[in-house]
Amino acid sequence: MKALILAGGTGSRLRPITHSIAKQLIPVANKPVIEFGIEAILETGISDFGIIVGDARSEIESHLGDGSKWGASFTYIPQSAPLGLAHAVKTARPYLRDEKFIMYLGDNLIKGGVKELVDDFRKGQCDASILLTKAPNPEQFGVAELQGDRVVRLEEKPKNPKSDLALVGVYLFTPIVFDAIETLQPSFRGEYEITDAIQTLINWNKRVRYEIVTGWWKDTGTVQAMLEANRLILQTMSHKQSGTITNSRIQGEVSIGTGSHLINSVVIGPAIIGQNCKIENCTIGPFAAVGSECRITGIEASDSIVMNGCELRGHGLHLTSSLLGRNVSLQAEGAPKRTMNLVLGDNSSLTVS
Ligand code: TTP
Repeated sequence: MKALILAGGTGSRLRPITHSIAKQLIPVANKPVIEFGIEAILETGISDFGIIVGDARSEIESHLGDGSKWGASFTYIPQSAPLGLAHAVKTARPYLRDEKFIMYLGDNLIKGGVKELVDDFRKGQCDASILLTKAPNPEQFGVAELQGDRVVRLEEKPKNPKSDLALVGVYLFTPIVFDAIETLQPSFRGEYEITDAIQTLINWNKRVRYEIVTGWWKDTGTVQAMLEANRLILQTMSHKQSGTITNSRIQGEVSIGTGSHLINSVVIGPAIIGQNCKIENCTIGPFAAVGSECRITGIEASDSIVMNGCELRGHGLHLTSSLLGRNVSLQAEGAPKRTMNLVLGDNSSLTVS
């Protein structure tokens, strides 16, 4: 079997961050989100990966390389335009050829992995298999209607959902899906929808099975979802301290990278601080992920992602529910104590008075 990871798309819901960084490379607990998917797939024994890329091709390719770092082989497949998930699969046909494959959305996170799903699909006789999760708001997703072990209908964002089972961004296909995709017309939003391709398979009486996610699932397409993913991953991490600590206190599960220096500060876990950071007079956490090479003074940061190279100076400024891109400069010294929720793209410079 092969894997197809989708890392094209526009990432419009994560602007301005995605103006300069691919959504799939945004770090969750200091690891690019796409790497969680790669690792989940490697657990299944699959090592041939096709990676669909769009405008961010060079950034993704230079970050992930040829796959040898993971003992795998990565083939980059440019998609001419982000015309939908089914279009991405069609684009990958020459790479996938006549093999069964797992399709994984590069911005999705699944706790519990996909090994069981892939093992069952390998052994079984079905034509497609999808992963479902119980959702409190199924009307915002593709929703499945089931009969026994079969999926009988899929509806994209239905007004009156027939179940609370939403589609998760992992799909397993045999090559028959290419025939289904050939019959598709663009949907009302102008995209070739993978749900329409699966519905076509159902209409053709093909066997479409499902499994229900046992752990949690997160689509990191929005700032709030990205922060929630960050919280969920941080909660699974354990204590690891490789930095230097001066007159500071660490509480709970905290990871501090080599070369980082904590001075007169408190870090409340779960939290992670990357390498070579200088953190002075700060309270970091809970649920904060600070990248590497950051200089932070006089800031409280909780429930936030701060990417590499940021320079933040405040005087009791409390950052929460914030997503800061690489090399952001924030100057709030002398400003009154206040709480801020910020979403700032790479290299932004902000002075707060
Ligand atoms: P989406 O989150 O559905 O789309 P998007 O990335 O364009 O984001 P937005 O809606 O905020 O503009 O995409 C899910 C995943 O699939 C994501 O990793 C990007 C990828 N993708 C492709 O590779 N090709 C495509 O044509 C589309 C639509 C998405």
